[in-house]
Amino acid sequence: MSYERISDANEITAKYMDSILIQQRLIDSVKADISTVFLGEEFDSPVMTPAFSHLGKYNGRELTGLEEYSVAAKKCNILNFCGMMENDMFQKIIDTGAKTIRIVKPYADNGKVRDQLQFAEEAGAFGIGMDIDHIFGENGYDVVIGEEMAAQTTDMLHSYVASTKLPFVIKGVLSVRDAVKCADIGAKAIIVSHHHGRLPYAVPPMKILPEIKENLKGRDVKIIVDCGIAGGADVYKALALGADAAAVGRSMLPSLEKEGAEGVEKFLKRIGNELRFIMSCTGFEKVNEIDDSALCFN
Ligand SMILES: Cc1cc2nc3c(=O)[nH]c(=O)nc-3n(C[C@H](O)[C@H](O)[C@H](O)COP(=O)(O)O)c2cc1C
Repeated sequence: MSYERISDANEITAKYMDSILIQQRLIDSVKADISTVFLGEEFDSPVMTPAFSHLGKYNGRELTGLEEYSVAAKKCNILNFCGMMENDMFQKIIDTGAKTIRIVKPYADNGKVRDQLQFAEEAGAFGIGMDIDHIFGENGYDVVIGEEMAAQTTDMLHSYVASTKLPFVIKGVLSVRDAVKCADIGAKAIIVSHHHGRLPYAVPPMKILPEIKENLKGRDVKIIVDCGIAGGADVYKALALGADAAAVGRSMLPSLEKEGAEGVEKFLKRIGNELRFIMSCTGFEKVNEIDDSALCFN
């Protein structure tokens, strides 16, 4: 007899998110406002772009996909992220005018980590950070496009935080233990993520989120969630469970490929409109008021 087991964290995450249902609370409710203040800056929506890398030019267009989605982030006045890249590419992203957080890889070449963080700060990044969920790979430490990664200690992370005036963001937090360490070293935000399922049976970010939120109570750390965010309902659930913001990811790619910056702008606006609708229908006027009181768990 054969049987199937699911080890794909993407599938487990999607099932968990879809199992959370939303009550309707209309009486005395008004049209919601999705604008938000994040790390001291006003944004039109708590939806953010993902820390992506390695997107070339689609359909012979002039700009790379990375620049195109950054243009969309600027137009929508939302916070922009980018991932693994060399400094010249990062400069092009900054040149789009998007407020951008650069997420640097945990390179084994620590000089490269520091160089990229410093370059980002001097180029005018909104923030800098690191994705710690790419440290390990199948053969020990990960190798990403030929580049070796290395273990990152609390002291190393603290030294990056101490080296900058910018907010430092740690991406790939998926436990209370790591979240508290991030708070202790002075990180200003964490991204609760399993990086599209790198870890088999990874806990869905939204499942661990309330525990992380509880343990960061009173600490000055913003929480962003990613993985599987594809619509306004996903963003709403993330906010209701304790996040301050949510980042889209692969769900953005079809619009990006087809229509570039314009496609991403439409996609982001659609998600924002869906979020506003659900907030209005559940009695929350402002983003920072949303709690889990209208959620039902199966
Ligand atoms: C093409 C591609 C490139 C990515 N590059 C990076 C990167 O350089 N740094 C990083 O932290 N995450 C990177 N990610 C991971 C995303 O930021 C995100 O965490 C992940 O895709 C989960 O979100 P999703 O399920 O909505 O796609 C990449 C993902 C994709 C699909």
